[in-house]
Amino acid sequence: MTSKTFYSVSQARDLAQRVLPKVIFDYIEGGADEEITMLNNRKAFQKIFFKPKMVQGSFTPELETELLGFKLSMPILLAPCGLVKIMNPDGALGAVKAAERFQTISVLSAVAGTSLEDVTQDLKSNNLWFQLYASKGQEEIKQLIDRAYQANVSALVVTVDTPELGNRLRDAINGVKPPININLRNASKLLYQILSKPKWTYGTLSDFVKMRKNPSSGFMAKDMLKMAASPFSWDDIKLIKNSWDKYLIIKGVLTKEDAQRAVDNGADGIVVSNHGGRQLEGAPPTIEVISEIADQVSKSVPVILDSGIRTGTDVIKALCLGASAVMIGRPYLYGLSVAGQKGIERILEIFKQELITDMVLLGCKSVKELDKSWLFLRDK
Ligand code: FNR
Repeated sequence: MTSKTFYSVSQARDLAQRVLPKVIFDYIEGGADEEITMLNNRKAFQKIFFKPKMVQGSFTPELETELLGFKLSMPILLAPCGLVKIMNPDGALGAVKAAERFQTISVLSAVAGTSLEDVTQDLKSNNLWFQLYASKGQEEIKQLIDRAYQANVSALVVTVDTPELGNRLRDAINGVKPPININLRNASKLLYQILSKPKWTYGTLSDFVKMRKNPSSGFMAKDMLKMAASPFSWDDIKLIKNSWDKYLIIKGVLTKEDAQRAVDNGADGIVVSNHGGRQLEGAPPTIEVISEIADQVSKSVPVILDSGIRTGTDVIKALCLGASAVMIGRPYLYGLSVAGQKGIERILEIFKQELITDMVLLGCKSVKELDKSWLFLRDK
């Protein structure tokens, strides 16, 4: 299967389901509890309608934008995602290179499965941000921040919605304790699933052998399990801010009050996110709360939105409601699973094409012109 074989995110999703063992696909796809928040993330976008302006657009709308001084070819970033190497050996390195080719930013998860140093060694641009879960151990955070400086990371993204992992029922039913630990006890149960996907199995085993020769790049980065806990107080954020003089972005905010608190404690940017519906079941869809949050803080800091973005029109709707840019999670993981780095590039290409077509149809010349006037908004 190649990157040429899909034309939309939803088709890439179906292909990913075909190439991955069920346990891995479920890890990507799953949400918390009954997955209501995850479903609502999609439904909420479908309830928003455009107000197109006829006879005034451009056939070559401008998609370029600037975010915290970074020039982006389009307002789409790759969200931090854990364990990406388990989907395809290209893993996080593939994501960073794909982002570099599309002149956008990739956010490396602290639990990506590839070390910071391995990802940054051939990096030519400054398009890498690094996400961390501020853990219980301040010493570990300091060490990570030092490594981020050494690796020339340009922004830190601190995820605050994970004091505990959400209740991911698919992982529990598959017998893997998040974050996906395949061990001797559950391997026999998963053997059929794994062997029925020979291409994935061959790729993963070959990569595993390679990694044993070069242990710095781990399937499970050594920091992994220590990291799965968010800060317990805003003082922790302040502490990080005091040891990091580049950009600090807070990810996982869902209210204007928390957005303001983040800014007051030194955030240079906010990611409005419900973690793709993987954390608190019952959390609101981000597209429902973005406007209020942007009204509160977007004069001081950029506001990025993620959770549920699947098409170009979703991106445009988020921008109309006040987001400066969006992040995608699962869409690029589907591409990665199907065709490695090339698959991620294909996903970015699809978004770019959709954005161009949709902007032309909307009659809008530049993403910078998008605001609420392009939407039919019902009074609340
Ligand atoms: C994530 N996400 C995530 N977020 C984070 O801050 N650190 C992480 O390590 C991970 N890991 C992770 C793994 C997988 C498999 C998924 C699907 C997601 C959340 C991610 O950054 C982002 O918020 C969501 O994926 C956005 O929602 P969509 O685009 O997947 O709907």
